Amino acid sequence: MEKFIVKQAQPLHGNVKISGAKNAVLPILTASILTQERCEIANVPPLRDVKEMLGLLEGLGAAVKFDEAAECVQVEAKQLNTCEVPQTQAAKMRASFLSAGPLLARLRMAKIPMPGGCPIGSRPIDLHLKGFSAMGVVCRLEHGTVELIAKNGLKGKNIYLDFPSVGATENIMLAATLAKGTTVIENAAAEPEIVDLANFLRKMGAEITGDGTDTIEICGVKQLHGATHCVIPDRMEAGTFMTAVAITGGDVLLTNVCEEHLKPVIAKLAESNVKIEHLPEGLRVSRKGKLRPIQLKTMPFPGFPTDMQAQFMSLAAVTKGTSVITETVFENRFLHAGELQRMGADIKIDSRSAIIEGKEELTGTQVRATDLRAGAALILSALAAKGETEISDIYHIERGYHHIDEKLRALGVDIRRTKDL
Ligand code: UD1
Repeated sequence: MEKFIVKQAQPLHGNVKISGAKNAVLPILTASILTQERCEIANVPPLRDVKEMLGLLEGLGAAVKFDEAAECVQVEAKQLNTCEVPQTQAAKMRASFLSAGPLLARLRMAKIPMPGGCPIGSRPIDLHLKGFSAMGVVCRLEHGTVELIAKNGLKGKNIYLDFPSVGATENIMLAATLAKGTTVIENAAAEPEIVDLANFLRKMGAEITGDGTDTIEICGVKQLHGATHCVIPDRMEAGTFMTAVAITGGDVLLTNVCEEHLKPVIAKLAESNVKIEHLPEGLRVSRKGKLRPIQLKTMPFPGFPTDMQAQFMSLAAVTKGTSVITETVFENRFLHAGELQRMGADIKIDSRSAIIEGKEELTGTQVRATDLRAGAALILSALAAKGETEISDIYHIERGYHHIDEKLRALGVDIRRTKDL
């Protein structure tokens, strides 16, 4: 297993190009099997999760080509051979369940092992199933596998989500594109990744309106066709690099970013005394003065993203004064706090809130990435930690950050990769 060894950093300087958004690519890849024709998707980062998803689509019968150097994927699902996702693939990635909507639309059936538990909370799929049931699907759980059958095809319906779940909104949208009649999703998720999926589906011939708001309307069509699409930039990767600059100080230009998608993160960084300028070539992030403590609450978009919560805890840990971070989206997403405490951070957890007394400096030690964003937070803390920090289980980090070590090295960070003996 590989580790990162990170040394305390000087202020960061230079340029960093942000990759395509993992959370947009995954549903877009599953959407590409809604048609028999070829789809071409660009700005696809060669991440572990992306490769897992391509393997899953191949297993279903799609022909897949991934030009990793060009970051371009072709998917052609002339025919699908099976409606079953194997346990090994389902267990690796929760997003495997996003194949349910397209399988139901194309084959009227899907058999997908229940996506496993997850360190950040129980992550149920009840809202996905509630949507499918409303559309005429019989949903059963047998021997740990979710069996979905739409004997008489999918029917458009009004569906109210109890919570604006990103995955449930996407799965229902995917199924509804080929359903008979109109589906209306109320209290839908409004994340930029939903809008990107809708843009791709529209290019394939789907009739969708309202994406980016809390009510999405999908008029089912008879069939979809091939399309080409370029994926939006990853707002979480951009936010992570911005937070790195906040922590170390310095001056960095981010290219391939969308400022609009980063509004909640930019607002909080501005409160903590980070300067962000919009330039024609990208976003310039700099900090010279002292950091100010932050108060934030994670919320569905356009609120502050839960996927940036851990990184902001690293920022708060080195910001003098008291910061409070409240997690409202996931029930158990403070696992990184324990690892940050090992580096000397002063964090108290009170139910869904973390109270952080910032210090000038942390100290490097051996820590473990418990999940993707927690791992990113450890790298950020390491930048402000005396000596060296050794981060293990970095495969979690590589599920969502392409070449994070190379990108940080280009900004002046001493980070290297080693193998466990
Ligand atoms: C997606 C993102 C993930 C991000 C999350 C919230 C992808 C691949 N992943 O995950 O990075 O952290 O959105 O922005 O896009 N819930 C239910 N029942 C359901 C579905 C969800 O109760 O059927 C709950 C979850 O337990 C969680 C909350 O809703 O507490 C949000 O989950 P959801 O928006 O569905 O997240 P994902 O789509 O899994």
